[in-house]
Amino acid sequence: MTTPSTPSDDPPLRETASRLWRFMKPHRWGLMLSVLAFVLVAATEPLIPKLLGYALGEGFNAKPATTSVIGLPGTAASAVSPASAAAPSMASINLDYSFPIWMVPIVLIGLFAIRGLFTFCGQYMLNWTISRTVMDIRTALLQVLLRADARVYTSLQPATAVTKVVNDPQHVVTLIAGSLVTILRDGLPALALMGYLFVLNWKLTLLSLITVPGLAFVVRKVNKRVRRMGTWAYDAQLRLVSVVEDVTRAWRVVRSFDAAGYETRRFGDRAREVQRSMLKTAASNAMAQPLSQLMASVGISIIVSLALYQSRVNGTGVGEFASFVAALLFMSSRLRHLSDVMQPITNALVVARGCIGLLDTPAEPDTGTRELSNVRGDIALKQVTLRYPGANRDALAALNLHIPAGKTTALVGSSGAGKSSVVNLLLGFERPDSGTILLDGVAIDELTKANLRRQFAVVSQDIVLFDTSVADNIAYGQERDDVKLEQALRAAALWDFAQSLPEGLDTMVGANGSKLSGGQRQRLAIARALYKDAPVWIFDEATSALDTESERAVQQALEQWQGRKTLIVIAHRLSTIRRADCIQVMADGQVVESGDHDELLARDGVYAGMVKVQH
Ligand SMILES: Nc1ncnc2c1ncn2[C@@H]1O[C@H](COP(=O)(O)OP(=O)(O)OP(=O)(O)O)[C@@H](O)[C@H]1O
Ligand SMILES: [Mg+2]
Repeated sequence: MTTPSTPSDDPPLRETASRLWRFMKPHRWGLMLSVLAFVLVAATEPLIPKLLGYALGEGFNAKPATTSVIGLPGTAASAVSPASAAAPSMASINLDYSFPIWMVPIVLIGLFAIRGLFTFCGQYMLNWTISRTVMDIRTALLQVLLRADARVYTSLQPATAVTKVVNDPQHVVTLIAGSLVTILRDGLPALALMGYLFVLNWKLTLLSLITVPGLAFVVRKVNKRVRRMGTWAYDAQLRLVSVVEDVTRAWRVVRSFDAAGYETRRFGDRAREVQRSMLKTAASNAMAQPLSQLMASVGISIIVSLALYQSRVNGTGVGEFASFVAALLFMSSRLRHLSDVMQPITNALVVARGCIGLLDTPAEPDTGTRELSNVRGDIALKQVTLRYPGANRDALAALNLHIPAGKTTALVGSSGAGKSSVVNLLLGFERPDSGTILLDGVAIDELTKANLRRQFAVVSQDIVLFDTSVADNIAYGQERDDVKLEQALRAAALWDFAQSLPEGLDTMVGANGSKLSGGQRQRLAIARALYKDAPVWIFDEATSALDTESERAVQQALEQWQGRKTLIVIAHRLSTIRRADCIQVMADGQVVESGDHDELLARDGVYAGMVKVQH
């Protein structure tokens, strides 16, 4: 059986608990009010056996005819039985009681009404605390994702992130709160009852404590197993989630490669692992109650036997005995619930370790302090080298590149030459291993990341659209301005299409623009970039899916901005870039040729070769 043990480098659950507490702390007064309410509920708990004892005791002792219960006809054993003791009392009801009978229901109902009210308040305040805490944890986790270093995203599965940000906090806090309620609802009354038992008969009560070390041992052992199984189950579940993500994200590939069977098997394997780990966790959880009850039964049987013995020998009153046994039984039923408290907390901490661990995701270094305004868009890369983690060769090798302001510069070169890597560097998604990158003569690492990125509008090679309307996709993250929207749409040759949509600009585009054609998605992304109105526009294969006519229209629109915007165009289709002011030909992370179309043709080098091949 494969039951991976918890890696030793995992942070201990105690640390996780203290981090969780940091989120709960701001809402602690809600928690305190809740505790207060539960304390008040608990405080009324011993009143019930006390009242019972009082009523019975008064009933038996206050009657002049029956001075002592023990003195009644019958055996000693029947004398101490509350049932048989009640029988003669029925026969001898008279008005000599020191309290009127009608008070019994009034007091009892009143007591339960008060308890009900406080229980409600306690639960409400507790849930108030939970929901606030969950919201805070989720917000903190989202902030982490928004600031995470770009490299984190090469290994973080979106579905895993969703699970950790959305599901886990709720699960964790609900489990913990459930346990807290149990502790408050059952633990406090148990304590109160314990106090009452001490008052009644401290010797007997003290004896009951002999079971505590045994209980502690059982709980520790069970917890350790729950922790191990829980961690396994949690990891298995994340692996299962990622299969579901693949199946939905890549549904076309799955269908067209007839891989449903393959995915079913992959899912089945992982689902079975989840099922096994869950069952093992549940079994570990379920061990706690019977084991601790067994330990508790030892204590209870000792006490009851001794109590019976004491009452026979000393002739303890029925009232006292009844109230002692009632309190003891109340307490043991409370304790039964308490034995179920540790496992949910452990389970919760295991899950919390997973999601709170996300808080340790390294943030993108943002050490720059300068902010540029009115950027012209003059870009220079000097001796820039970049090697991705785990790669065995440089993506960019001592690259020197100048992109003049207000001009159109084209980057061409074979696949893998490093063109997109230049874009990643300019936007600060990657940091060069050596060399400097200047924007208007200022090293970009002196700028704040927000300021740096404000200078670029990018249409990336892989188009990303949001599941919102056309307009919201274009005015993404900015104020909606219908005049600007129209300009951007016209420039992207998408205006007529947008007008023909059933709800115009408010038509939803589907998940990642799935309701649009490839070319329409590209043009929507272009419109989004144009709407941003940044000094530098970067089009990375942005028109590769367009027909020649649409591409021509986009190019003509862009020409209006000539001289005012710096335009970087990356394209494999050389017709796209033949009118560029300067063409930089890249190979193996370096610029091997540069010049305009005619110059490069005349040189008859790499570029001329590429043109020939394309013709
Ligand atoms: N995140 C990454 N991790 C490791 N290697 C990477 C990563 N991104 C790119 N590379 C490698 O860096 C090199 C340059 O990639 P880049 O994306 O810059 O090429 P490109 O010129 O844009 O190619 P294409 O024309 O196919 O888009 C490639 O060899 C690629 O395998
Ligand atoms: Mg690329």
